[in-house]
Amino acid sequence: MAVRCRRGLEAILAEELATLDKGSPGGALVPELRSDPCGGTRVEVMLSGRLDVLFGARTMLSIALPLPLRKLDPGADLAAAVAERLLSRESLEILRRFTLGAIRYRIDWAGGGKRRAAVFRAAAAVEAGAPELVNDPTQSTWDVVVYEGAGRVRVELAPRLPDPRFAYRRGDVPAASHPTIAAALARIAGVRADDVVWDPFVGSGLELCERALLGPYRRLVGSDRDPRALEIARENLDAAGARDAELLQRDAYGGPPPGDAPTLILTNPPLGRRVERTGDLDALLDRFVEGAARALAPGGRLVWISPFPERTEAVARRSGLRPEALQRVDLGGFDAQIQSFHKAAVQPQASLDRGDGRRGDRLDRPLPGRAGRGPQQAELRGEQHRPRRQEERHEHRDDHPKPPRPIGGWVAGHAVEPAEGRRRRRG
Ligand SMILES: C[S@@+](CC[C@H](N)C(=O)[O-])C[C@H]1O[C@@H](n2cnc3c(N)ncnc32)[C@H](O)[C@@H]1O
Repeated sequence: MAVRCRRGLEAILAEELATLDKGSPGGALVPELRSDPCGGTRVEVMLSGRLDVLFGARTMLSIALPLPLRKLDPGADLAAAVAERLLSRESLEILRRFTLGAIRYRIDWAGGGKRRAAVFRAAAAVEAGAPELVNDPTQSTWDVVVYEGAGRVRVELAPRLPDPRFAYRRGDVPAASHPTIAAALARIAGVRADDVVWDPFVGSGLELCERALLGPYRRLVGSDRDPRALEIARENLDAAGARDAELLQRDAYGGPPPGDAPTLILTNPPLGRRVERTGDLDALLDRFVEGAARALAPGGRLVWISPFPERTEAVARRSGLRPEALQRVDLGGFDAQIQSFHKAAVQPQASLDRGDGRRGDRLDRPLPGRAGRGPQQAELRGEQHRPRRQEERHEHRDDHPKPPRPIGGWVAGHAVEPAEGRRRRRG
């Protein structure tokens, strides 16, 4: 199977896939990262169990069965090549074996565009070779996805299946997170059973829903200045089974909610694309990062999406947060960066001497656990899983000589391609 995700999430997807299908006759999935000019970046797995096992991967966008590559000579008709692939033995075997009822398909060009004439020619050739294959863009049971590049054509058969993963979404807000991005943020943050999680820009609540589904927590708190968003978040969180989540109307820049300091601030803030087009968003997000650094309990984490990566990373460092993972991601036509920052478990001596006693910088209640860095997260970054004692020594350092890693690096023995377009600027 070729499994795809938003660009930048490949390593997280691979890590998720590796946890699936452990009980099947073939054993756990062994994801392999692939990237080539004809087929883009994807994670490939050999699946021996049920197809719906793949819905366990919450960062996945699509699944498809790839057909063998076909050479495409210069000037050759792409439509004829697509028809030839669809009529191949492998294709017919897949379509006949896995379709209930009529085999209806639509052709999707991965490079974009409708290319109606090419679709027409391909469909006519397919009909001539196998009349049971019906080109029906409105009621298709299969998407036939066509990739071309480097003198080759690659055809993938993507079954159109009902996706149960995000059924909790009862409502939406403008600029709601894409659920696979929310799932990635929650996964990067990791699970600590004692987590006090705060999403200060909660919107429709997808980050909190995904965090709730991932594992236990002590408190889930979402806040937003828009009461309508809070109503929608309530519906979504209830549907996700997080009825205990607390929702408050408040300004994100006005400090954390009352009660215990958050151990995890997990959020997708306004990114300046569809809403919140004010010119001072960068300065506001600087303030937000400074506030988050103050609000977090010692050992806490801020995991969020930044539209101004270099700037917010610098503010975070100045505010005493250590970058743990930085990964550029495609948010649907523009890039931003997932940033994971950790606050030292014990405050460095220099700031103790300042005696500023800020909320969240409490020294009286060191957190149990490994400051949110489970073995899974360490593995995701290709690190060795360090024992706690050594980790704590590292947390005590004032300087942070090791640069943060991009998420991924080395997963299941395969190098992860860096996200494309690293230098692309926001529009
Ligand atoms: C990008 S959306 C959040 C998307 C959310 N993660 C979701 O899943 O729907 C940003 C949210 O921040 C809220 N917001 C913007 N500025 C705010 C502020 N100063 N304080 C609190 N909420 C704010 C907006 O009302 C909006 O709901």
